[in-house]
Amino acid sequence: MKRPIIAGNWKMNNNKEGTKKLIAEIAPLVKDAECEVVVCVPFTDLETARKAARGTNIQLGAQNVHWAEKGAFTGEISADMLAEMKVKYVIVGHSERRQYFGETDATVNMRTKAALKAGLKVILCVGELLSERESKKTAEVVTRQTTEALKDITKQELKKIVLAYEPVWAIGTGRTATSQDANDTIKVIRKVVRKLFGRAAAQSVRIQYGGSMNAKNAKELMAMPQIDGGLIGGASLKAEDFAKVVNFNA
Ligand code: 13P
Repeated sequence: MKRPIIAGNWKMNNNKEGTKKLIAEIAPLVKDAECEVVVCVPFTDLETARKAARGTNIQLGAQNVHWAEKGAFTGEISADMLAEMKVKYVIVGHSERRQYFGETDATVNMRTKAALKAGLKVILCVGELLSERESKKTAEVVTRQTTEALKDITKQELKKIVLAYEPVWAIGTGRTATSQDANDTIKVIRKVVRKLFGRAAAQSVRIQYGGSMNAKNAKELMAMPQIDGGLIGGASLKAEDFAKVVNFNA
């Protein structure tokens, strides 16, 4: 049995005080969770979040990582720096980075490799734009993104990767993919993994859904056979909502 994984992506929200408060509120609500629980916080909140989550089942995540070990990369953060902060997971290739910060399939691949090398686990995001969905290119886009992101990754390394399917048009819009659509596209992604790594790897890799997932729709989405978790934006900023997603089975 695969253990589901629910991760909050706080994006650029919360200062230190907010971080302390939110984690303190979430912790008791998710303490008996059957799934893995992760919060991916801004770099500047990592230390606060680490302390607040100490002794809980909440794991620490970051939202981006650079591919170089060190050097002249103003404004960037290396994988070793994150590891030193006790970060367990890092989100790579989020659509907001692809849209606004020039992230490409190639840099997603480089960042993934750097994170793995430093011992971090990766939440690797793929997903199509609305225009791509409307022109029936969803399968083609996620196939390309997944293939390129996993280039030169070993089967062993894949065990440290969680894939996240986030249709861009469903992010922050309140417009969720239907559970059937999400399931169908995740099936396509799993097929890519099978082609690259074989059947067993494809079966065991966890693939999350993300995009307006919330307290109300989590149960239905998580009941789909292909969906192994969720990557939660807006709803991860409210303790009760996030906890309801985490406890989707309750
Ligand atoms: P929302 O849950 O706010 O739609 O965001 C999803 C997301 O981008 C998580 O990474």
